[in-house]
Order: sequence, then structure tokens, then C-alpha cells
Amino acid sequence: MKLRVDGLSVRFHLPGAEVRAVTDARFELREGRCLALVGESGCGKSVMAHALLGLLPGNATVTGHAWLDPSGPDAASGDAASGDAASGDAASGDAAPDLVPGSSPGDGPPFGGGSLDLVTAPEKVLARQVRGRLIGLIPQSPAAHLTPVRTARAQLAETLRELGRPETPDLLAARAGLRPEDLDRYPHQLSGGMAQRVANALALAGDPPLIVADEPTTGLDRPLVDATMAELRRLCDEGRAVLVITHDLRAAERVADEIAVMYASRIVELSQAGPFFAGPRHPYARGLLDALPSRRFVPIPGRPPELTRLPDGCAFLPRCPLATDACEKQPLMNGKKVACHHA
Ligand SMILES: Nc1ncnc2c1ncn2[C@@H]1O[C@H](COP(=O)(O)OP(=O)(O)OP(=O)(O)O)[C@@H](O)[C@H]1O
Ligand SMILES: [Mg+2]
Repeated sequence: MKLRVDGLSVRFHLPGAEVRAVTDARFELREGRCLALVGESGCGKSVMAHALLGLLPGNATVTGHAWLDPSGPDAASGDAASGDAASGDAASGDAAPDLVPGSSPGDGPPFGGGSLDLVTAPEKVLARQVRGRLIGLIPQSPAAHLTPVRTARAQLAETLRELGRPETPDLLAARAGLRPEDLDRYPHQLSGGMAQRVANALALAGDPPLIVADEPTTGLDRPLVDATMAELRRLCDEGRAVLVITHDLRAAERVADEIAVMYASRIVELSQAGPFFAGPRHPYARGLLDALPSRRFVPIPGRPPELTRLPDGCAFLPRCPLATDACEKQPLMNGKKVACHHA
């Protein structure tokens, strides 16, 4: 499994305004690796996740590429499920899924013919082959994503049926750390931690090789945060790729191999986790770490800009201790993977 996000941008069209929610995102992720996407509220993290799954509303325009190559060391799990699904015939699981090639010949897939551009893939392909089968989404606020009038068991059973999986809800629940009796509860009867586990079980039902976990620890207490992060790490160590979106840098430090820092719609630093926590290079990333109670506990002054009114230059300029005239020009990610004129 490999994912290469290449120049991905998302804009929302509103009456009289345009929200630039994701701008020119570039990163790679592969099996056995965990990338943590961090940044303040509203910087575009969830929109990026939803863009990968084709879950954005009709007023969104997505450009760029997000190449997904399901082959690789753990292709067995992803391919078996998607092969069945692609043909709609559970007996023909031997064929590789017939994925959609690149949208334009000069701009083709980087991984060969078996890769799929999630940006241009038709809804039918995303629904039948991608969501739940190649990419499992653990949504932000899981309780809100569960159907209120059906028990956890009924929702797990329905997902398993849709995916054509042989497992029982009880088996999935046990893997997610739930007791069988928890499954007879309705969403409003689940604690935050239980709802999180049900969401995890649903996302993992199709054994997808890529997991996208959007704020999987919001509202959980520290032991549950630790357990959730340990579970994501285990999924990764078993050979899946994990994209975890979080505000919680301490949690990110526990689980991630790499960190992508997002500010005002752009990834401004992309770094291996070790060097990042030892010394981030972007002034915004340094500010985020300095704001941690376990570090200096000094917040970054000011607020991020409105995504409807992004400046031409560096969006962090008004808050940045290093700002100079040079910052009036947009700093682009350089070979050192940091978008700052002064890093
Ligand atoms: N359907 C939409 N129409 C217009 N703007 C939208 C839409 N969905 C999201 N946005 C805007 O896109 C921006 C990014 O939102 P997003 O949900 O990705 O933030 P986030 O980084 O996930 O924040 P949080 O950490 O609070 O979850 C926000 O300014 C949000 O208001
Ligand atoms: Mg979000």
C-alpha cells in the first residue's frame, strides 16, 4: 500500500467567498508507517481526510492528485476484499481490482497501472472499492456518525454484510476491546470511549490497508488516549498505513513515524518524528511545541487567518517572531521539507 498526495488542493465555494481549505498538499505514506497530521482547529485537516475518501460536499472543488497503490507487502488483505467488491461477485476474488488510471497521460500514476487517483475516481469506484475496503475512516466525533436508532451490533452487522466479510460483530468488537453486551447498546448509551471503539471496529471491518483516524482521542481521558494510540501503532506494526489527525502532540509523539504540520491550509513542515520533537524547524511548529504544558506552556500569540482571506505571502507572518520582508512572498516547501524563508 502506498499513498502519494501530490499538489492536493480543496476550495469551497460560498456565496461571495471562497474557502481555501487545503493548498498544495504533498506527502507520502506507506504500509507499516504512521503519519500524524497536526495543526490548530480549522486549518484543513479533516477536509484533507475527506478529500481522500471522496466525502466532500458539492460546493468543494478538489485539484491535484492522491495516488493510492493497494499493492505491496500486505496487499493480500486489501486486494482480496476489493477484488470481490469490484466485480460484485464474491467467487471471483482472484482478479486484481481494475482501478482507474491517471486522469491525463502526462500526469500519470507514479506507482504503475494498478494505482488509483482518489481525486478523479468516480463515486462508484470510491464506494465499491475504496471506502472501508482500501481506506478505513475513523471519523471525528464517532458518536455523531453512528445511526442513533440502531444498536452497535446492528451497525457492525450491516457494515460486515455490505463488505461481504465472514466475521461476526462479536469478533470485531472483541478485537476493538468491546464486550459482547456493549454491542446491544444504542449510540446514546455508549460512553465516549465505547463509541470510539465501535468507530474503530467499523473502520477496521473491511481490513483496509490504510486507516485514516480523524481526532481519534478527542474527549477521552489519558489512559484511553494511550490505549487508542497503542492500538493505532499496533495496526501500523501489523503492516497497515495510518494517517492520524490530531491536536494532541503528545499523542502524536507516541504513535507517529512522521509529522506533517498544517497551518492555514498548507503543510508547512514534514519531518521524521524523532528530529521533529527534538527540534522542529518551522516557527509555527516550534510555537506548537512550546505551547505544550510539558514544555514551555507559552501559547502562540494571535490567531490564524481566515481561509477566505489568505495572504499572498506566508500566512504565519503576523504571528511569527522571525518575520521579515522576505515573508511577503509565499515560502514553498523546499528540499528540507519546511515552508519558511528563515528555517
Ligand atoms: N462544506 C464546507 N463549506 C465551506 N467551508 C467549509 C466546509 N467544510 C469545511 N469548511 C472550512 O474548511 C476549513 C477547514 O476545516 P476542517 O474541518 O478541515 O478543519 P480541521 O483542521 O479539521 O479543524 P478541527 O481541528 O477543529 O477539526 C474550515 O475553515 C472550515 O470552516
Ligand atoms: Mg477536523
